[in-house]
Amino acid sequence: MRCYRFDALNSLDDLSVHADAIPAPQRGEVLVKIHAVSLNHRDLSVVLGNYVHAARPGLVPCSDAAGEIASVGDGVTVFQRGDRVVSVFHPRWFGGKPHRTLGQETYGNAADGWLAEYKVVPQEAVIPLPDTLSYEEGSTLPCAATTAWSALSGGTPVRAGMTVLTMGTGGVSIFAVQLAKALGAKIIGTTSSARKAERLRAMGADTVVNYAEIAHWGQHAKTVLTGGLGVDCVVEVGGPATVNEALHAVRWGGEVVLIGFLTEDNPGIDYFHLKGSGATVRSIGVGDRAALQETIGAVGGAGIRPVIDRVFPFQDAHAAFNHLKSGSHVGKIVIKVSG
Ligand SMILES: NC(=O)c1ccc[n+]([C@@H]2O[C@H](COP(=O)([O-])OP(=O)(O)OC[C@H]3O[C@@H](n4cnc5c(N)ncnc54)[C@H](OP(=O)(O)O)[C@@H]3O)[C@@H](O)[C@H]2O)c1
Repeated sequence: MRCYRFDALNSLDDLSVHADAIPAPQRGEVLVKIHAVSLNHRDLSVVLGNYVHAARPGLVPCSDAAGEIASVGDGVTVFQRGDRVVSVFHPRWFGGKPHRTLGQETYGNAADGWLAEYKVVPQEAVIPLPDTLSYEEGSTLPCAATTAWSALSGGTPVRAGMTVLTMGTGGVSIFAVQLAKALGAKIIGTTSSARKAERLRAMGADTVVNYAEIAHWGQHAKTVLTGGLGVDCVVEVGGPATVNEALHAVRWGGEVVLIGFLTEDNPGIDYFHLKGSGATVRSIGVGDRAALQETIGAVGGAGIRPVIDRVFPFQDAHAAFNHLKSGSHVGKIVIKVSG
C-alpha cells in the first residue's frame, strides 16, 4: 500500500510516498481502507516546527480520515467489513479530564497518522460515519468540527440568542459559524478578505468585520456591534497576537475559548486587562471520543454540510499541503485517497 511520510521536519518538500505492507488487524483491531483525509493547520505546524507538542520525523501525517472497515481481528464486536467510519482525534481519551500523556500520542507528531491507503487501529479508535455524509465530508469532522463543537458546547454552552465571535475562515472557524448558527446564536465573523466576507455572510454570519482593515476588531465588536455589552463567546484561533482583542470583545461573564496559534507576535497579556474583561478563559484540545460522537449528531441533526474548499487526489498531497499553507481556502481541504 502507499502512504506518505515526512522523512524530515524542515519543509513540505520532506513529504514523500512510501510503499508499506498492508497491516493485519490483531485481536480487538480493525483494518480501515481509507477513502478521504482532511488537512488541519496542525499538520503544517508539525512539519514547520511550531506545534505545541514534540514531533518526530518519519511519521505518516494527518489525524482525520474516513473510510470503510476492510477486515476485523478476533474479538471485534462493534464493526464488520464494509462499515463506514471516521477516525477519533484522541483515540485513548474516552471522556472525563484528559490523561497526562495526551499530547504524546497524537497522530502525525507522535504516532503514524492517516495519510495512507490502509491503517490498523483498535476498534475504539473509529466511530460510525452516517450514510448522509460522504467520506470527504466525514473526514472533516474529527479535529476541526469537534473542536468547534467543544468550544461552543463546553464551559458555558452557547444558547439561542447569545453572540459568538469567530475568527477567520479556516476549518475550525467555519464549523463554529455553522454550529453556532444551528444553535440559534448571533454571529460576528472576522476575515481579512472581502471575498471570504461574502462567504461568511452566505453561511449565516450576521456581521462581518475585516480584521485587516479594523485592527481593533475586538473593541469594535464590543462598542459598536454589541452596544457596549460584548460577545458571549470568542472562538479564539489566532493566539498570542489576537487574544488581547478577544478579551476586548468578550462581555463580563462571557468566555474566550483558547484554541489556536495562527499568529507569531506575542505581546503578552496585561493582568488588569484579563481581570477587567470578566471573562472565563478556557483552553481546549479538540475533545474526547464522546465529543466527536456529539459533533456527528449535531452536524446530522442540523443538516450541516461541511464546507470543503477543494478535494485533491492522493498523488497531489504536496499541492494540498501548499494550498493549506497559502491560507486562501475557506473551510476544509480534503485528499481523496481511494474510491
Ligand atoms: N486546541 C485545539 O483543540 C485545536 C484544534 C484545531 C485547531 N487548532 C488550532 O487552531 C488554529 C486554526 O486551525 P484551522 O485548522 O482551522 O486553521 P486553517 O484552516 O489553516 O485557518 C486559516 C485561517 O485562519 C485565519 N487567520 C489567520 N491569521 C489570523 C488572524 N491573525 N486573525 C484571525 N484569523 C486569522 C485566516 O482566515 P481569513 O483568510 O479569513 O482571514 C486563514 O485563512 C490553528 O492554530 C490550529 O493549530 C487547535
